[in-house]
Formats: sequence, C-alpha cells, structure tokens
Amino acid sequence: MGSVSIDTDLIAGAEELLAALKSQQPLTSANRVALLRQVDKIRCGLQGPAEAMNFQGTHVSLGPFAPCRTAGRGILTLACDKNMFTPVMNALVEHHVFDHVPAEGKTIGLDELASKIGWESTVLVRFINVVLIQGILEETEPRVYKHSASSIAFREDKMRSYYQLGSWSVPSWWKVSDYLKTHAPEDLYDNLKSPFAWSRGAEGKTYYQLLEEDTAFSDVWHKGMAQAAPFNPVLGMFPFRDMRAAVEAEPDRAFVVDVGGGRGNALVDMMRECSGSFGAPMVLQDMKEVLQGDDPVRIEGVQVMPHDFYNEQPVKNAHIYYTRKVMHNYYDEKCRTILGPIVDAMGPTSRLLFGDMILPESAKPGDDALPFCMDLRMLMIGGTERSEPQWKALLDSVDLVIVKIWRLPGAPHQATIEAKLRGN
Ligand SMILES: C[S@@+](CC[C@H](N)C(=O)[O-])C[C@H]1O[C@@H](n2cnc3c(N)ncnc32)[C@H](O)[C@@H]1O
Repeated sequence: MGSVSIDTDLIAGAEELLAALKSQQPLTSANRVALLRQVDKIRCGLQGPAEAMNFQGTHVSLGPFAPCRTAGRGILTLACDKNMFTPVMNALVEHHVFDHVPAEGKTIGLDELASKIGWESTVLVRFINVVLIQGILEETEPRVYKHSASSIAFREDKMRSYYQLGSWSVPSWWKVSDYLKTHAPEDLYDNLKSPFAWSRGAEGKTYYQLLEEDTAFSDVWHKGMAQAAPFNPVLGMFPFRDMRAAVEAEPDRAFVVDVGGGRGNALVDMMRECSGSFGAPMVLQDMKEVLQGDDPVRIEGVQVMPHDFYNEQPVKNAHIYYTRKVMHNYYDEKCRTILGPIVDAMGPTSRLLFGDMILPESAKPGDDALPFCMDLRMLMIGGTERSEPQWKALLDSVDLVIVKIWRLPGAPHQATIEAKLRGN
C-alpha cells in the first residue's frame, strides 16, 4: 500500500507512549484518554494515502455502523466522528478543496483557498479544523495548509473516485433502521428490495440498474473501482505468471475471461505480472453500458465483449475464468445463476478464480474493519461477504471444488479462491 517514511516525531511519539504506558500504573481515566490520543497521533503519522482513504471509508464514513477499531478518541469525540466526518469530508471533496491545495508540498493560505471554492474563510476554517484532527491536511502555520500523506488521496487526480463511490450509499445508511422496521426479514435477500433501493424510493431495481441510470455517478463509480487495487488487490495471491507453459501450449484457449470485469483494471494488472498474455486472448466482459458507453473501454491486448453474465458464456474452455468482487454483490441463489453458465463453459483443466474477501468468522478489538464494513455495504445492496465455510458451501452447490485459497500475506481476508470442476 505504498511506503511512508517514518520521521523522528513518529518514533519519539511511540517512545513517549511506551514510557507512559510503563509508568502510569494503574491508569486513571484521564491518563487513558491521553494515551489513546497519542495512539491516534501515531496512527495518523503512520497512514499513507490508501490507509487514510480506507480509514475514512470504514471507521469514519459509515458512522454508527463502523466497528470502532481505534476506540482512542473517547466517547465524545467518537460521537463527533459518527455524525460529522462524513458530511464534512463529503463537502470538502465535492467542493474540490483538496484539488486546490497544491500537490507538490507547497502551501496555500486559508483566504486564497476559500476564494477558489467560493466559500467564506470563516466557514471553510471550521470544516478544515475537523479534518486536521484526522491527519487530513496539515496546518504549517496558522491558517496555512499543505497536503499531508493522507489528504493527497482525496484529490481528483488520485483516489478520490474510490472514496466517492462509497458516498453514493451513505444516505441509505441512515434509513437502514427504518428499513428493518418496515420490511419482512426475507426482503433483505431480494436484491430488488435492497435497503439501498428502498431508501431511494426505487424498489424493483437492482443497485447496478440504478447506478447505470445515473450517468454522472456511474462514471465516478467505475473510475473508483479502477482504483480499488490497494484495497482489494488482484496480484500477490494466485500466481498468474505460472500459467505460462499451459497457456503457451494451448494459445487458442483464452488465457483469462474476466466476467463482470468493470473497466478492465484486473486484466491490466495480470498482463503486467505476465508481461503480456502468453499469446492467448484476454477477454473483458461486462454490461454494454459499462464497456461501450460515453467513454468506451479500449485496452491494448484485451478483447472487450459486452456480455450479460446471466446468459450463456460465449467463451468456452478458457484457461481461467475470473470474477472479482462480483459474488459479494449477491446471495447464494443469484450467485448460482451467475455461476451456472461459467461452469457449463469450463473444460477439464479450466480454473475459476474468485478475487474476493474471506470474511473472518469472528471480530476482535483491533481487527481490520474492512471485511466487516464491506459485508455491511453488501447488505445494503442485496449481497454478502462469505466466510471460508460459506464459500465452500456455495461452490459445492454448483459442482465446483476449491483447489486452493490464495490469501494475501499480511491481510489474509484478501484472497483469490481457485476452483475447478468436480471430478477433474
Ligand atoms: C463490484 S463491480 C466489480 C468490477 C470488477 N470486477 C472489479 O473488480 O473492478 C461488479 C461488476 O459487475 C458488473 N455487472 C453487474 N451486473 C452484470 C451483468 N448482468 N452482466 C455483466 N456484468 C454485470 C457491474 O457492471 C460491475 O462492473
């Protein structure tokens, strides 16, 4: 997730924390709050752009639904996080504040920044103060700001779209409680009656139908997904380059068919690892609107193929069929209807890879919040993350067996699940 240089302040801060922990026994409540602040300071100093984005997207943006990994801000500030960070960050992002702060370590004064976005300085400073506490921007002298390692992520030319794709769902989070009061338990499993659709008065439509109807937002959404690699990596698990001999021996078979592959970022990563495609076709499949809309997808070496994944899979006996972050959009019954045509197209040596999370079976203080928050995000749109037993049960029900679960070192909930046809 990128490297961040450890400065001396950070080391000094960690040493202070350690010394205080050793000396303050038993801890008073006031000491504990001070130590937790120190922990937060160290976290802010350690995070790079991707971790900052992740933190804002899980611990902060989801407000009341976010598991509290850093209980460090005490009840009052936690309540403040819940209610305020999302709208504050959203306003700063949407009003391009982060785009107007120079990228290359230069500073900008409050008045100039305010005039660029057309706000009063006295208003802007009140918003900025709230995010400074999270290590978002840095105040180099009173009312003068520069980008921090964290805030840079929110520029339009960086990862901002990834952050914004989550924002689309935020209003529905506030209505999920009412949804649960007003709906039968089974409605949650029907993706035409998802909390997301209901909160927009659009029951009867799936999340993806609503997304593609909102052309301005779908553009941001697909750009955001293309930036998802730091949060959901493609590489570093299944060794695509080890397929060389098999693919070069049978180059008429597609190397990879990426089903529901969005704008093709996973295929690009694979071709980077393999320095090409070993002479075999790489096929990108998604809905026509995604591939051939206003900004058609063109990637050298990739065959772009509009395809509705509920229909017969036109590419037979590929070396690899790949789906990434597709299964988590649905419960098992729908997954089976998507997997059926792929299973029918697979040959004896074909592999089906799932680039997805493995949901831990329990959650403890300090665990990575991402899989649990992502699971709730999926609940909102009619889907679910799956634990290892849930994956086995799903694949077993469509006559697939797991060959290996390739987990990402250091983040074992990130995985590529390799499956083959039963009996081969
Ligand atoms: C969460 S996104 C994942 C995109 C891509 N695999 C990635 O990891 O970046 C799910 C994808 O499924 C696609 N999708 C939804 N319904 C589809 C359908 N009926 N046929 C084909 N693709 C579909 C969406 O357009 C979207 O690109």
